[in-house]
Amino acid sequence: MTEQLVKVVVHKRQLQGDDVVVLDLIPADGSGLPTFEAGAHVDLHVAPGLVRQYSLCGDPAERAVYRLGVLKDPASRGGSNAVHETLLEGAEVIIGAPRNLFPLAPEARRSILVGGGIGITPMIAMAYALHARGADFELHYCGRSRRRSAFLEELASSPFASRVFTHFDDEAAGQRLDPDAVLGRAEPGVHLYTCGPTGFMDWIIGEAAQRGYPDEQIHREYFQVEVDASGSGFEVVAARSGKTVQVAQGQSILDALADVGIKVEKSCEQGVCGTCLCDVLEGEPDHRDVYLTDEEKAAGDQILVCCSRSRSQTLVLDI
Ligand code: FES
Repeated sequence: MTEQLVKVVVHKRQLQGDDVVVLDLIPADGSGLPTFEAGAHVDLHVAPGLVRQYSLCGDPAERAVYRLGVLKDPASRGGSNAVHETLLEGAEVIIGAPRNLFPLAPEARRSILVGGGIGITPMIAMAYALHARGADFELHYCGRSRRRSAFLEELASSPFASRVFTHFDDEAAGQRLDPDAVLGRAEPGVHLYTCGPTGFMDWIIGEAAQRGYPDEQIHREYFQVEVDASGSGFEVVAARSGKTVQVAQGQSILDALADVGIKVEKSCEQGVCGTCLCDVLEGEPDHRDVYLTDEEKAAGDQILVCCSRSRSQTLVLDI
């Protein structure tokens, strides 16, 4: 499938908090932008060969502008630094059409949105959408400190400001997020959505699970993961191409395939976006991604070749 690409211009750029740049993007040719649903992200083609995913954090009802918030990440592999340094007002950039891997559950009767740090971005779009449909929800924004946090003014002046609760590590203990008060006991129709650093998400998801939330009522979006490339080498057979490659220790299947001329589409290279998904015909994948569900991982018939490895000596892929 070929991705629909859109050329946009940085219409407005604001630095917020200590290190977040908020970009308003408008179409370069003056036409409209594709509509998007709350929770969607776009691929930002920051530079040739450098594609990163960022959540759309504006109001989904707003058709003329896409808003992104990008944290300057000291551990950046080039993406966020390049956004901060090159996407100045007036700069043109290519984006993919919005894709939604983190949709709101239509059946929810109450939604609890919990964003950690820059993980607040998809939650803002969700809050606009839930407010527009008159739904019951709360938005909880957790961060290290108020000073470092972006979007506070927008949230305070939003039409859903009374549903926004902030929790900062360096303020009084009483305002920190209390899982008992926020999550309570699980109830049918109450859905949790979370996005943020992996450790933060693991914590809130664990708290929800302890309180009886079933997996289908917990929705998560990872935006940054450390790829675990440990483990020994193995063999990959590309069945349709008729080629066999050795994947060395520390090498990704994606790179090993590229070395013999087999190109698999990729984007995040972190097991987050799902772009590099391939079907497995034989062998046992060793899943290292955060994209597939536990059930899909257990089925063992798909693999994300940018990060996952093999438990069997040989893995046969349908490529
Ligand atoms: S490229 Fe994003 S999951 Fe592999």
